[in-house]
Amino acid sequence: MKIGVGILGCGTVGGGVAQVILEQAEHLEKRSGVRLELKKVLVRDTSRPRPIPASLITSRPEDVLENPDIDIVVELIGGLEPAGEWILRALKNGRRVVTANKYLLAQRGGEIFAAAARHQSCVCFEASCGGAIPIVLALTRGLLANEIRSVVGILNGTCNYILTQMTQNKKAYAAALAEAQHAGYAEADPHMDVSGLDSSHKLAVLASLAFGADIKSSVIDTRGIAGLHDVDLRYAQELGYVCKLLAIAQRQGAGVSLRVHPALIPFSHPLSNVNGSYNAISVDGSVAGRTVYYGRGAGAMPTASAVLADILEAAMGNAVPMFARHPLLNHRREMEVIPLKDVNTRHYLRIAALDRPGTIHEITGVLGRNNISISAVAQHESKAGTYVPLVITTHEARDGSVTDSMRELEQLECVHGEPVHLRILDDYE
Ligand code: NAP
Ligand code: HSE
Repeated sequence: MKIGVGILGCGTVGGGVAQVILEQAEHLEKRSGVRLELKKVLVRDTSRPRPIPASLITSRPEDVLENPDIDIVVELIGGLEPAGEWILRALKNGRRVVTANKYLLAQRGGEIFAAAARHQSCVCFEASCGGAIPIVLALTRGLLANEIRSVVGILNGTCNYILTQMTQNKKAYAAALAEAQHAGYAEADPHMDVSGLDSSHKLAVLASLAFGADIKSSVIDTRGIAGLHDVDLRYAQELGYVCKLLAIAQRQGAGVSLRVHPALIPFSHPLSNVNGSYNAISVDGSVAGRTVYYGRGAGAMPTASAVLADILEAAMGNAVPMFARHPLLNHRREMEVIPLKDVNTRHYLRIAALDRPGTIHEITGVLGRNNISISAVAQHESKAGTYVPLVITTHEARDGSVTDSMRELEQLECVHGEPVHLRILDDYE
């Protein structure tokens, strides 16, 4: 069976997908029984060199969206518009759609899936989360019998690459970010990565699947890695932790807590050895217990692998009936979101504290009054009368109590500047 494919975008991912279709069509046919034929690829700038024949390149969207030879439209331009409008147009025209656009799905997933169902089509999105990792497949099929209790992931390859370079190779933040951009890991606007927004988009997509809920990224408390200091990565290591940007969705009663922030995890945690552009996702289910999914989370070929899996599923005729029937995709409920301030977790604090009698008493007094119990305290020897870093880890405490304490600590005469506050996650059996 021959299936015509049109791609919107020929950048890092679109270029990779186009190359594989052109160079490995025979191999793909042997594995799937369908012959993919690349018909047209849309770009903005037709004068730029591309890894595919110029005859396939166009700058006219209608050459893909209205082309009768194209059965599957693959959206790989990114961003909200015109990607959203073009996906809806392709569905209306009876095309099956594949996308890697987590930003769009995190904002308008419900509406786009409803349009797909209305037009008896599908929108496949495996590549939107975790690069090459088949996490959408795991949540919609492999773990279907489970009530999902939590999804905890390293979901951004760029941030994980930067943190790994800073921690293991003592590289500066800016240099590591430039390398991640050069390797094709970063978004067109890398602020999306380092601000934590890309992780929150992916968490919205995965949490919606995990809980059968309509979760938009706007409800996710999101912090990134841009403000992290080398010194905290070093202290974390001294204390037996590594710092990762985590995306966390945890069921709490009838609600769910959703957050993205840098977190310290102990060396023994399964996510602690996930380095470079790799991603990993730990899912806790009521029947399976914990399962962990690991692989390259960004870059041309790892992402192309997931996009091609979706193209083949759609081409083989599996995706449309699956899409029409699957309640996790098309019968999503509202779910209460528990704010970060009401989440209990452990904490790391670094306070610039005046080395003089009574300082620790004053600081621990603030924490004690806010019902925060200290787990460890570390301070290197220094010159009396100077401000020195005082590192405190706590037992589980309410997040809001810790942020209130931060404000009180800042007011103390023996504390200089704003304390550093990171969360610790070590509840892995
Ligand atoms: P990219 O390298 O910036 O490529 C985007 C492509 O889209 C370019 O070819 C660009 O054309 C084209 N394009 C953008 N706006 C257009 C418009 N208005 N009209 C026509 N063409 C347009 O992006 P990417 O890294 O491949 O990412 C594509 C999508 O995959 C995004 O949704 C991204 O979030 C997602 N994704 C990326 C990765 C990754 O590792 N990079 C991994 C997973 C998911 P020109 O070349 O002419 O500028
Ligand atoms: N910019 C994203 C990342 C691409 O670094 O993870 C993969 O979605």
